[in-house]
Amino acid sequence: MTTVYLNGQFIPKERATISVEDRGFIFGDGIYEVVRVIDGRIFEWGAHAARLAYGVAGIRIALDPTVIDGLKAVCERLVADNGFADGEATVYMQISRGAAPRTHYFPPAGTTPTVYAAASRFVVPRDHRDAGVKAITAPDIRWLRCDLKTVNLLGAVLGRQAATEAGAYEAILLRDGVVTEGAATNVFAVVDGVIRTHPLGNLILPGITRKVVVELMKENDIALVEKPVTQSELSQASELFLCGTTTDVTGVVALDGKPVGTGAPGPVTLRLQALLDARMYSAVGAGR
Ligand code: PDD
Repeated sequence: MTTVYLNGQFIPKERATISVEDRGFIFGDGIYEVVRVIDGRIFEWGAHAARLAYGVAGIRIALDPTVIDGLKAVCERLVADNGFADGEATVYMQISRGAAPRTHYFPPAGTTPTVYAAASRFVVPRDHRDAGVKAITAPDIRWLRCDLKTVNLLGAVLGRQAATEAGAYEAILLRDGVVTEGAATNVFAVVDGVIRTHPLGNLILPGITRKVVVELMKENDIALVEKPVTQSELSQASELFLCGTTTDVTGVVALDGKPVGTGAPGPVTLRLQALLDARMYSAVGAGR
């Protein structure tokens, strides 16, 4: 039996129901977060909680400020109660503006936000990490507040589906001739020997894994230039890699059917993958 959390209660998944008027359902009017949990300990909780608070404030959901702090214990209990305290898991959290008769403008003051969380077993796809993955390019058709982790994910859904239909893992999104990020990952490239990634701002999600990778680069004197990679630079990149909570650092070895670099994960990718692994597994005090 799977236990989930809904609006203050831990209940069997089958009994967790929300209103058909929930604004998350009707408008995609909500914010979500995904955390990685290793041996019962959440990686980078503080950063995920801060991003969740930023998103909730960004779409102006009136949420009791203690709710987000309380979600840490909710995640830990979901992991324990579902038998994931050993090994790896993820927890999905979602906060919507609540249920109310459909109006595009906000519902009446006092409408209670819907708060949901659920844990799942996570199995690291070791083959992806080791061999790298294929990607395609796709137009970035998303809105202009990609810094908010909203549950409106159609740009990502259509991008990932196009990738899947092409036998690839990820869609690397292009807006105005430059790479922004992946459908559900941040993207780095090595162009003319320089590691590049899109700067933070409204056009990308401020990935927590991206943040950790940038910290690791600073700590290890690895230079990074936060400048968008153009479409023509992308096709000449010697390395490309993705990062994200469930992707870690994963090399892209083929793009639109053509090999990237040597067609195997390159030295920068492998080094950062190892540094992230060391950080992630030591930060949570667990071995692989
Ligand atoms: N996706 N960019 C986008 C558009 C994302 O959706 C994600 C995460 C990332 C990486 O962020 P982080 O390192 O904080 O996971 C970048 C999550 C995992 C998802 O949608 O399931």
